[in-house]
Amino acid sequence: MRVVDTTENVRENEQHYDQSYRDVNVDEIVTMVENFDEFFSDAVRTDTSWYGMYMDGFADRLKGRRVLELGCGNGVNALAMCMLGAQVVAVDISSESARIVNQAAQKLGFGPERVQGLSGDFTSLNLEDEPFDCVVGKAFLHHLTEELEREYLAKAAGMLKPEGEARFFEPAENSPTLDSLRWMVPVRNRPSSLNKKAFAKWKASDPHPDRSNSSQTYLQNAALYFEQVDALSLGSIERFHKLLPGGSFNRKYRRWAHRVDARMPNWFRHKFARSQLLVYRHPKSSAADRGSL
Ligand SMILES: C[S@@+](CC[C@H](N)C(=O)[O-])C[C@H]1O[C@@H](n2cnc3c(N)ncnc32)[C@H](O)[C@@H]1O
Repeated sequence: MRVVDTTENVRENEQHYDQSYRDVNVDEIVTMVENFDEFFSDAVRTDTSWYGMYMDGFADRLKGRRVLELGCGNGVNALAMCMLGAQVVAVDISSESARIVNQAAQKLGFGPERVQGLSGDFTSLNLEDEPFDCVVGKAFLHHLTEELEREYLAKAAGMLKPEGEARFFEPAENSPTLDSLRWMVPVRNRPSSLNKKAFAKWKASDPHPDRSNSSQTYLQNAALYFEQVDALSLGSIERFHKLLPGGSFNRKYRRWAHRVDARMPNWFRHKFARSQLLVYRHPKSSAADRGSL
């Protein structure tokens, strides 16, 4: 196991994502947002991170809300929330990410009161005092060490309105056996764990820390800062799309898989989940409420 401390983890993510986002085509993002209805209706039915993030009528609750997005990446979700009527502050450790969000916003004619990209470590960022209705992260928390996750959750809880909600879409690893089998199957640029040398080389450049991504771990960490914490398991069947060739059949399979997954018993969904939607409500307002702090 590669042990990574929190400072090293933040630096690795920054370097990795500065590199990945350097060549992002801002005009393509602008075109996607200009064709928002078409893009959004396909994404929320098909792509698991969009399907999960927007479950339970989330899109309909965004109008007029102040939203803080953590780990906003290429900014497409921040711009989508803005299109749905939210005022969005989008944060990422990569300065390339803030550049993309702000350039796209400018081309779309969205002022900073509608969407604003900021870069830096969330714990040391000075954000304005007005509280948020919602804090979201899509495929974000699993990039943090558990220590940093707790720091981020503490700060996020303190920035939410009492009736506010934190919402994270993350991978789920609820079965160690299934998980070790998953690592054995090579995908895209990740070699099989059975190929020890190639796997170690891949792991050295991977920005994810070694941490638990079980629902139980996320909920335990969240319960330090929120009264109500829930995890909804996703992707027990959708996960197999990676074994199919890409293209329209693959996307059709994913849409079918989401519908079937929703009808499976909870124990099955939990055990075989590939992803999860984490929803945290009722932020604990003081250190005393948080018990151990
Ligand atoms: C897998 S990407 C997801 C990006 C985007 N949310 C999406 O759904 O496409 C993870 C993102 O988290 C960001 N990130 C990693 N560590 C971070 C940190 N400590 N603070 C803020 N952002 C961080 C990365 O730069 C990257 O943009």
